[in-house]
Amino acid sequence: MEKLATRIDWIGNSCRLLKETAAEFENTRPFEGLSIGTGIHLEPKTVALLLTLRAGGARLICTGNLNSTQPATVEFLRAQGITVFATQTTDPVAHHRSLEAVVAEKPDLLLDNGGDLFAIAAERPHANLLGGTEETTSGRTRLLPMRDKLAMPILVINDSPIKQFAENKHAVGQSLFESYMRFTNRSTNGKRVTVFGYGACGKGTAAAFRNAFSTVRVVDIDPVTSLEAHLDGFITPLREQAIRSADVIATVTGFPDIVTAADLPLIKDGAILMNGGHFPREIDVAAFRSHPDVAGIDRYEADHIETFHLKDGRSFHVLGGGHMANLAGPRPLGNSVESMDLGFTLQARCLERVAKHGVGAESCIVPVPADIDAMVASAYLDLAR
Ligand SMILES: NC(=O)c1ccc[n+]([C@@H]2O[C@H](COP(=O)([O-])OP(=O)(O)OC[C@H]3O[C@@H](n4cnc5c(N)ncnc54)[C@H](O)[C@@H]3O)[C@@H](O)[C@H]2O)c1
Repeated sequence: MEKLATRIDWIGNSCRLLKETAAEFENTRPFEGLSIGTGIHLEPKTVALLLTLRAGGARLICTGNLNSTQPATVEFLRAQGITVFATQTTDPVAHHRSLEAVVAEKPDLLLDNGGDLFAIAAERPHANLLGGTEETTSGRTRLLPMRDKLAMPILVINDSPIKQFAENKHAVGQSLFESYMRFTNRSTNGKRVTVFGYGACGKGTAAAFRNAFSTVRVVDIDPVTSLEAHLDGFITPLREQAIRSADVIATVTGFPDIVTAADLPLIKDGAILMNGGHFPREIDVAAFRSHPDVAGIDRYEADHIETFHLKDGRSFHVLGGGHMANLAGPRPLGNSVESMDLGFTLQARCLERVAKHGVGAESCIVPVPADIDAMVASAYLDLAR
């Protein structure tokens, strides 16, 4: 019999660890009688996480993050009887209203992404709040100064080594490489690619392009990290030379102004610039748009590519307006399902630990407990064998 299946079905069926966890939770019901407030991107991969939590007995009250809510996902969750306050919005005031609505329901646990929900709870804590999880580094940084007010277990997923190597290293590299192909339909063979930043994300990006037959140069502001790149076999020229020679420039540092208007004289004719760092300010696209040396701009609206024509006859291209390229442009897919399956299984297990009072207030804004890392790693390896 043929069935019309959706992207949500495809992702759900691809999240093998979460499926296994959901099956276990249906028996153990770790969240029986508890509610979980969530503030994380509402897109198909998070649906797999949310349905796993619900399988464990949780009542879910959900909102998304700014700008990333997918209407089809909201519709799907509502059809499942899940409370969703989110709307697809770039308006911080409207977004804040949805966050407030989630906290007003007094959930027993919070699943946060960027510290939005815990920041509200720190100001107006409700008595039944047990604690929860925070997905990101930026959320950890934001919440650390509120540690005394929060005084409850909050486990930070990004600080798990699994998240670091499965997502930041391997998945970001693959998806940035995929995004270059998806945006441009250009080859990578024989291209000179310069990667700015050789942290976890930069390592994966440099490796993905090298594996695709590019010649990869790495620039990192830290000489020790540059040495590591050198010993890994990458060319590590000085910054100016690395820009001059690049057919493709990828920034993945997490810092602003990595490539700026001051670099316009260096950029090679035909170069393609893309960013993989969290904030859309590593490449100063706004300055390019208003620079007197720029004679004209072609906007490929449907493909999210801008071509900047310089007065001296050179031109270069920027993908996705300098936003994270793997989440921008036509049909952005983000990081691989497997990497998110691992990260979200860590989420589910950490929430289970907090729900069962397995960690106390001393575990406020701390990494994932090592035994949970080991349990999730073993489960993934068992499925892979
Ligand atoms: N696109 C995605 O899906 C995705 C996923 C995870 C993380 N990220 C983002 O990617 C960025 C990098 O993350 P990471 O985990 O690799 O960080 P990291 O801190 O491990 O590495 C950043 C590297 O950039 C280097 N650097 C800093 N300033 C520099 C400069 N001016 N020139 C050259 N190098 C410089 C640092 O020395 C460091 O080695 C962050 O913004 C992170 O939020 C994106």
